[in-house]
Amino acid sequence: MKENFNINNLLRENIKNIKPYSSARDEYKDITDGMVFIDANENPFNTNVNRYPDPQQTKVKTRLSELKDMPANQILLGNGSDEVLDLIFRAFCEPNHDSIITLPPTYGMYDVLANLNAVENIEIQLESNFQPNTKAILEAANKQTKVLFLCSPNNPTANSFEANKIEALLNNFEGIVVIDEAYIDFSKEESWLTRLQDFPNLIVTQTLSKAYGLAGIRLGICYASEAIISILNKIKPPYNINQLTQDKASERLNNMDSVHNEVKSIFYEREKLSKALTSITFVQNVFSSDANFILAKVDDANQRYQQLIEKGIVVRNRTNQPLCENCLRFSVGIKEENEKLIQTLIQLS
Ligand SMILES: Cc1ncc(COP(=O)(O)O)c(C=O)c1O
Repeated sequence: MKENFNINNLLRENIKNIKPYSSARDEYKDITDGMVFIDANENPFNTNVNRYPDPQQTKVKTRLSELKDMPANQILLGNGSDEVLDLIFRAFCEPNHDSIITLPPTYGMYDVLANLNAVENIEIQLESNFQPNTKAILEAANKQTKVLFLCSPNNPTANSFEANKIEALLNNFEGIVVIDEAYIDFSKEESWLTRLQDFPNLIVTQTLSKAYGLAGIRLGICYASEAIISILNKIKPPYNINQLTQDKASERLNNMDSVHNEVKSIFYEREKLSKALTSITFVQNVFSSDANFILAKVDDANQRYQQLIEKGIVVRNRTNQPLCENCLRFSVGIKEENEKLIQTLIQLS
């Protein structure tokens, strides 16, 4: 439980008083027959998408709210998690003044967004077991350090961070803690969503790009206190989630059986693939995975990466990342793809 936290102390000055753009569709969302809509300078001829989309994405949020047992006013949607993460920078980090903390090796966009927003990225490397060094993180933070990014399960290492370490950071870090749960549906750990009431400094991000199979529609989700969501809502572009995305997301969220079946199959394939990788002679270590990918150490990642490309298989070479020397990252594919990978690796042995 975090006491005495005041979000206003972290907000950028210009954001405190910002007046959001008031869009026509905010006033009247429901396009119903019999009403005349001549308020938004749209083309009146029906193409099914000639109207601006609902800026608050009520339908998608209502469904997410049911699925996650979370009030809709604690949910914000973005054009992928990447937009959500960018909004967090814009709300809390003063360019050329503030800093964030990230824990490499981790998802590369935190650093890209820090650069884009002219915010210093203090990097505190994970320990050799891929767990956060809580002491070093807390020592590195100062008054200007506004956000700590924890990616759990982490990309590219595929492990989840220990709950007691995350809790210690939530309790002791003075800024916002973002837990990026893009891969949470593949994890044996519980989501931190259930702890939002305990930690007013917590933001949890998730996405429809992984377990939900909708990377192409770009829908990222942010869960946080009502206060944080209302700030992010004020600064997001008014129509950031297009109509096609809203429709497709609603359809998928109403078909959770197929999401669950696919996740189950990915679990099964992941375990099979892990085992098979272990038996490859030039694979030196297969790290355990809480995600839909596997990190494995090979004899020579650059050479093996190139050999796989020549056989028509594209994997991710992570050898230049800290702690990932000679490591390749394999996304779990469908049965036939995984079999092709293993057969190819056997041939290369
Ligand atoms: C940890 C992590 N967060 C976020 C994302 C991106 O999610 P989205 O597709 O919602 O932008 C990725 C994509 O690979 C990721 O690995």
